Amino acid sequence: MKSKLIYVLCIVFLFCSSSYAQTYNQLWIPDTLSGTVFNLTMTDNFTQILPGNQTLTSGINGNFWGPTLFFNKGDTVHLNVQNNLNDSTTLHWHGFHLPAVMDGGPHQVIPPGALWQPYWKVTNNASTYWYHPHLHTMTEEQITKGLGGLIIVRDSIESSLALPRTYGVDDIPLVLTDRDISTSNQFTIVPYGDSMLVNMTLRPQYTVPAQIVRFRILNGAIERSYNIGFSDNRNFSVISSDGGLLNAPVSVNRYLLHTGERIEILVDFNGQSSTSVELKSFNSTLSGFIAGGENFPNGPFANYLGHKDFNMLHINVAAQTSTPIISIPSVLTNNVLLNVNTSNITRTLTISDSTGVTNPTILGPNAFILNHRLFNINYNDYQVPLGNTEIWQITSSSAFGHPFHIHDVEFNIISVNGVAPVPAQAGWKDVVFVPGKIGATNTVVKFIAKFEDYADSLHPFMYHCHIALHEDEGMMGQFVVKNTSTGIAQNANNTETFSVYPNPANDRLYFMFNDPAIKVYYVRVTNAIGRTLLMLPRPELQGGLDISNFKSGLYFIHLTDEVTKQTSVHKFIKN
Ligand code: C2O
Ligand code: CU
Ligand code: CU
Repeated sequence: MKSKLIYVLCIVFLFCSSSYAQTYNQLWIPDTLSGTVFNLTMTDNFTQILPGNQTLTSGINGNFWGPTLFFNKGDTVHLNVQNNLNDSTTLHWHGFHLPAVMDGGPHQVIPPGALWQPYWKVTNNASTYWYHPHLHTMTEEQITKGLGGLIIVRDSIESSLALPRTYGVDDIPLVLTDRDISTSNQFTIVPYGDSMLVNMTLRPQYTVPAQIVRFRILNGAIERSYNIGFSDNRNFSVISSDGGLLNAPVSVNRYLLHTGERIEILVDFNGQSSTSVELKSFNSTLSGFIAGGENFPNGPFANYLGHKDFNMLHINVAAQTSTPIISIPSVLTNNVLLNVNTSNITRTLTISDSTGVTNPTILGPNAFILNHRLFNINYNDYQVPLGNTEIWQITSSSAFGHPFHIHDVEFNIISVNGVAPVPAQAGWKDVVFVPGKIGATNTVVKFIAKFEDYADSLHPFMYHCHIALHEDEGMMGQFVVKNTSTGIAQNANNTETFSVYPNPANDRLYFMFNDPAIKVYYVRVTNAIGRTLLMLPRPELQGGLDISNFKSGLYFIHLTDEVTKQTSVHKFIKN
């Protein structure tokens, strides 16, 4: 249900309060974590968003949203993800190239109370990425409640440039989203909200120094696209797309950012101390096939912000810092993009509107679908041979536009309806917008990606529409990366391949393997009643397993062999 009260308050606010600076809230800047070990605890919580009732929210190391993680390219990062929610969840590292078993997609379900410990070597370029839940049919709800966070990757190329990089001062994260808030101040689980939130702050303002300022912008909405610009129509320079720096800054005065996408922009505030400007979304000019460009007066998509221009952030400009960046570099990097002549295969995918698909979630029989079928977690759509360079060609007959996202890789857009991408999209991307078809002509989008390393026959990677509603309704598919050069492993020995000691154990449990060459794919620890406590993809077991926090009792270790993918179980007693 929409809150009429909020409509009225918004309208009153627009008419009479634009000159009252005190009606703004200070933009919240998420805390940061850096290093190589990151502890993330997910909890259900309450947040005071409006006066009166608190709002039920979820957060990571806090009430609402999560910390910004800083990774260095080349480091191996270890994530300790503790699910203290009342529900199962997953946590996906959006944009990262990593083993599928670490990816946090719908297959890596973390039950309530369990600790999941993925790790990987960061090979992504410096850019802005994010993490969010990805539990199938629950993604919209869990993102709405506030689960997610940003990841900032640094590398030597980006670090050698004279760019603003003081977090919260001249390098400011902006997570764009919107929510529908009920009369009892609770979020309703709907695709479009009436209230714009930036960094989970309503009506935010922030003070920036009078110099070059970098904004790292994530579209973290459920469905809406934001057509970003400033109230004075000034130009800004796009320096990074989803997966890395552009070759050179691209000066624009609008940028249409779809769900899941990120850009980094530089804005010139030199000489503007004591002025202010609004960061806005100019959605009144968007076509009806773009999320947020429609204007539905009633029904499940009705919302106050549809097909309108609205303010997102009130920016006050103050004095320069002591060591300001005052100019925009003319060259950033030298991207070596994938050559279409090296492609091994063109995969053809379709997007279509379907009627008559029986659909378990909100909207009934109107799902949008990929390849003429709804997502089935037990069906693998593609086997991508390890090392392949592939062109993915998506032909859409849908009347609506869909931001298409793929896991595992960053790609280069080849063309949208035969036209090469604009300069700001000509770098590394992990989301590409597939526009709705115009008239009778289907839309065709092509991109190219290389599927290097991380072959895994068991855990797939996902591709899907990043509108969480569409994804939850089944607009998703999956592929495994398959190593075709090694034969099928013949290992008949699926019994007793390991033992644990000491047993009973106090603090640490050690592993002994009959075959010293065994590679462990997964270890799961359950208690006597079958509840999962620990999930360890490809664990490093040399130093044993820390069980010092376990209560005394009986436990089971489920160990899956990397080659045979067979699981054997041992019990142990914790003293
Ligand atoms: Cu950001 Cu598969 O998602
Ligand atoms: Cu992703
Ligand atoms: Cu979609």
